Amino acid sequence: MATSDTAFGGTGSGATGAAVGRAVMIAAAAALGGFLFGYDTAVINGAVGAIRDKYDIGAGGTGLTVSLTLLGAALGAWLAGDVADRLGRIRVMQIAAVLFFVGALGSAFPFSVYDLTAWRVVGGVAVGFASVIAPAYIAEISPASIRGRLGSMYQLAIVLGIAISQLVNYALNAAAGGARGHLLGIEAWQWMLALEAVPALLYLIVTYPIPESPRFLVLRGRADQAREILADLEGGGDEVVAVRMAEIGASLREHRTKTTLRQLFSKPLGVAPLVWVGIALAALQQFVGINVIFYYSSTLWQAVGFGEDRSLLISVVSALVNIAGTFVAIAVIDRIGRRPLLLVGSVGMAVSLATAAICFSSAVVTTNDIGESVATLEGTSGTVALIAANTFVFFFAFSWGPVVWVLISEMFPNRVRAAAVGVATAANWVSNFLISATFPALADWNLSVTYGGYAVMAAVSFFVVWKFVTETRGRTLEAAG
Ligand code: GLC
Repeated sequence: MATSDTAFGGTGSGATGAAVGRAVMIAAAAALGGFLFGYDTAVINGAVGAIRDKYDIGAGGTGLTVSLTLLGAALGAWLAGDVADRLGRIRVMQIAAVLFFVGALGSAFPFSVYDLTAWRVVGGVAVGFASVIAPAYIAEISPASIRGRLGSMYQLAIVLGIAISQLVNYALNAAAGGARGHLLGIEAWQWMLALEAVPALLYLIVTYPIPESPRFLVLRGRADQAREILADLEGGGDEVVAVRMAEIGASLREHRTKTTLRQLFSKPLGVAPLVWVGIALAALQQFVGINVIFYYSSTLWQAVGFGEDRSLLISVVSALVNIAGTFVAIAVIDRIGRRPLLLVGSVGMAVSLATAAICFSSAVVTTNDIGESVATLEGTSGTVALIAANTFVFFFAFSWGPVVWVLISEMFPNRVRAAAVGVATAANWVSNFLISATFPALADWNLSVTYGGYAVMAAVSFFVVWKFVTETRGRTLEAAG
């Protein structure tokens, strides 16, 4: 479509200052959704040690406190599509912003570990909403030719959110002299959780000047309003608007009969194999254990002998490596394609995870003055483990991190896309939950075997891509077998 050069700062005749300003707001809304997704899920890394300590909850309780928020995200992702069709895309963002806000403050000032966890689940529902609505709104509102660019920006926003949360954690920890140290009478870990209220408020504010999705307006019988917004966004004449309106009408007719979960897996539709491939990709993205790094690295590195301060610094480094890898993906994904990236990523992840597993097996376990057993990595194995873990993050960041989300959004045929994306996204959050809930107990039992397990999953991910994923650059993915 030749309608690209306008609202987003292009050179077309329709690119008025107001249109550019609105485009910036639209981009900010999408980016803040991604940013909060990253911040909310990873901020716990700096707080989890203090929470475990303060509420004396043990490994199992810690796992649940961290991971229940991800079940909230699964629930939010599951509901978001329906709410978006009923109340509108903007409303979903506003609800998410309010949930982020109250979730942040509620979890920062809890009465007990139970309501702390409940508030984290509230934030999790917001994460689920944002993870569905941000990419969907981008797709519906942006001219075709810059959709890819805005889509990548969303992914970048997630990893930036993770990185900023790690930096904030590190800075607060340093300023207060530990996660349980005080700043202005409040413990550092509480600040970590509370500060999320700031981007949440910004998110709420930017949703006011941005337009509702034309697709939603047509769905609700408000075609005139949709036409106005399209004319504004596309900057083209009546002809362009008419073409876009016809496209929206046709695609809505195609979607009129909603695909149910049962239909998705039934023979007549014939998409079940593809849906299973999507679920497998979404699950494997989590089963390699990436979020163990982002949610638990501070305690992970402490468990093998690094101090609290240094562990939080290592988390910052990992988050920066994650950003660097994401830039690599953005640069090459449309040139070398999805499949090669995934395959190279799998090999690199398997090797680096296996290396980390071997290092962890050399930890020397001693007993400290209060009778707890403490593991320490002696000599070079500590350094090698650090390098291996960050190499793993880099391989993930240019491959499975972004590519799985891209594939999920483009691999299903139009008529079943909404339902299939919902299933795959929910599978991703449930898998994230399973890994995050089990890590503390597994790590207490045997860190080396745990990492060995993630390495095996990385190897499995290679074969799944090798056998079942064909390139989607420029076409619809079809599953082999
Ligand atoms: C992907 C994963 C998410 C993870 C992130 C790390 O977006 O879906 O769970 O936290 O990558 O960069």
